[in-house]
Amino acid sequence: MARNIMKVKETKDRYDVTYMAGDDSGFDMMEGALLVLEAMNLPINWHRADLGWCMWEKSNKKFGEGDPRCNTVPPETIKSIRDTDATLMAAITSKAGVKGFKSAILQMRQLFDLYINIRPAKKLPGIGTPLAKDPDIDIVMFRENTEDLYAAVEFFPLPKEMFDLHKGMDRFREGKGDVAVSWRVFSEQGCERIIRAAFEYAKATGRKTVHCGNKANVIRQTDGMMKRKFLEIAKEYEQYGIKAYEENADATAMWLIKNPQDYSVVVASNVFGDILSDEASQLTGGLGFAPSGNIGVDAAIFEPSSGSVPKYAHQYKVNPSAMIMTAKMMLEYLGLDEDAAKIEKALGEVLVENKPGTLTYDVLRDFRGDPDWEKNAASTIEMATAIAQKLNPEFKGEKLEAAKEKVHKMCAWDEASLIGFAD
Ligand code: IPM
Ligand code: MG
Repeated sequence: MARNIMKVKETKDRYDVTYMAGDDSGFDMMEGALLVLEAMNLPINWHRADLGWCMWEKSNKKFGEGDPRCNTVPPETIKSIRDTDATLMAAITSKAGVKGFKSAILQMRQLFDLYINIRPAKKLPGIGTPLAKDPDIDIVMFRENTEDLYAAVEFFPLPKEMFDLHKGMDRFREGKGDVAVSWRVFSEQGCERIIRAAFEYAKATGRKTVHCGNKANVIRQTDGMMKRKFLEIAKEYEQYGIKAYEENADATAMWLIKNPQDYSVVVASNVFGDILSDEASQLTGGLGFAPSGNIGVDAAIFEPSSGSVPKYAHQYKVNPSAMIMTAKMMLEYLGLDEDAAKIEKALGEVLVENKPGTLTYDVLRDFRGDPDWEKNAASTIEMATAIAQKLNPEFKGEKLEAAKEKVHKMCAWDEASLIGFAD
């Protein structure tokens, strides 16, 4: 039997895990998440790696602008991801219009063929939805992560001979100025494996429906393939009582708002999944709470869906929840399901108790309606401490201070602490 790709390759007594604090507020989030994990005594050896804008700057300084070795991902990081059992990654910073700059996470998705992007959107206790009926939401999105418009096969301006490839290009030949084309590439393998991953997940977790959002009604070849494969594979899972629904992705976007409780597992191609997963996360607290996992055969990188909030970098203002829930997903991947469940429970309790000094500004502002949210906001570390103490009431005094110092060092962001490009 094929191995369960949603779980680590090999069960071990202790795991080696790479952590990457990313950029800007990513460091703060990672520090908060590691503090929570410190309270739990987990069987994990941590290995630091770095990537993102900080590495782009470092490589430019070292090799000089325009040098082909400049990158957001140093070789050391690639090696660490390859050599460890799983990777926990914080948010990174991207800047548009920088020549030669390539997103670190997009590179990792291609390099390690991380074809599953799993994005849960689950209503947390104490975090309401923006919807009037406040429905129960527990959606797990399976976004294809390597193909589609993310294949990066693009042309500008379109070479002359390309106009001859399809008669549909005739109307773009004259009078329209330059033409840009991005290929939307779907492969049978690509469709099949993401659809299978979604159904296998439903089967393993007892979920009873899988929806596939596509646009086969218009985009005949690519989405047509997705729809065909979906219906084909769905038949194999009927015996497990799993119902399959194939629908137009725009309708999915609408129904997610109207009746989110009707969705459980959703599978979509890369671009549609990118959009639908942000939408689903917004129904359950927004990106500040949304975790995700990029999973392939040989590596798994767990990252929050939130951005790196550069304006608050190193000020410990950001909500650590997305990072903490991301760590929770990683623990599930490692088979540490009980620990994972405890983390979610602890976070829920802190959110519900709503004690002074335990919730970050965004929670007070967006979910508690506190007009003094700025003044009353807890720091990233304070919120993480509250969660850590739910997990382990003994986590206080010297023990807590020592753990804080440890994780602070683990996430040091000064130039000398960044690992990579052989230093
Ligand atoms: C995501 C992000 C990325 C994507 C960006 C940052 C490249 O939006 O992970 O959803 O488009 O996949
Ligand atoms: Mg996105």
